[in-house]
Amino acid sequence: MSLSQCTWSDVAQDWDRWRDRIEEGDSGITAALLDAAAPLAGSRVLELAAGTGEVAARIADAVGPDGSVVASDEAEGMVALLTGRLAGLDNVEVRRIDARRIASPDDAYDAVVCRMGLMLVADPADAATEARRVLRPGGRLAAAVWADPSVNPWLASVGMAAMMHGLVAGGPPTGPGGPFSLADPEAVRALLEDAGFTDVRVDAVDGVRHYDGVEEHLDMGGSLAPPLSAALAAAAPETVTAVGETLRQLTSAYLTDDGGLDLPLRALVASATA
Ligand SMILES: C[S@@+](CC[C@H](N)C(=O)[O-])C[C@H]1O[C@@H](n2cnc3c(N)ncnc32)[C@H](O)[C@@H]1O
Repeated sequence: MSLSQCTWSDVAQDWDRWRDRIEEGDSGITAALLDAAAPLAGSRVLELAAGTGEVAARIADAVGPDGSVVASDEAEGMVALLTGRLAGLDNVEVRRIDARRIASPDDAYDAVVCRMGLMLVADPADAATEARRVLRPGGRLAAAVWADPSVNPWLASVGMAAMMHGLVAGGPPTGPGGPFSLADPEAVRALLEDAGFTDVRVDAVDGVRHYDGVEEHLDMGGSLAPPLSAALAAAAPETVTAVGETLRQLTSAYLTDDGGLDLPLRALVASATA
């Protein structure tokens, strides 16, 4: 497989493998996201780019039996994870949806939620416009994206270490569709206001990703992002070892007493009214 052909479906099993650790690190983000979408009881909610389904399960609990959740993702592999995780929840339906072209009528939902998906869409304006279209007037959007790379060393360091050893995969992380492409709060605000949302709020949420050591950091960080995962898989073993050594140096300030790593993270959680 060429690096550019590596897709989210190709890393779905790794998202499954790391789902508990992802939720651990993202717990503050998830809480802020659910608050931003509140009140959820009895609501019709669409989750975009839903990945493993852990957030959808939380939303399903919050909307209760009188509400409903459409848990969606564009990648078939992620849709399979959603189907497995959410099976048996009567108020949840799983669908394959591209956030740029949401196959739902106008005014279909009371809330749209998206954790770490909007910035990965090459043209997020299309996704924001579609989210507003499918929300009823007064409905709520809650979306989380990564803040600046300088305050997200857990993620930036892995890409940087790989790049320093020639494993450049995909475009720059701050470019369109990159993980840091919506890292500027004013860019997020403008995106949502241009799509017609009002009452736009963008709040920073801090957290920590814990790793048992640099090996786990490289394993997790290097397996969850499609192009980087393929680049590392195709690299010579000595190159992967060198990437690990560079990663160790880049993250040495975050070593814990027991040899683990506590790496800071910061998200921007945006909320807005349709
Ligand atoms: C970083 S993962 C986040 C997954 C999950 N929301 C979470 O926070 O654990 C990004 C997700 O966005 C999905 N995705 C990427 N482009 C998309 C698009 N155009 N429409 C819908 N989902 C998309 C991927 O398949 C992947 O599941």
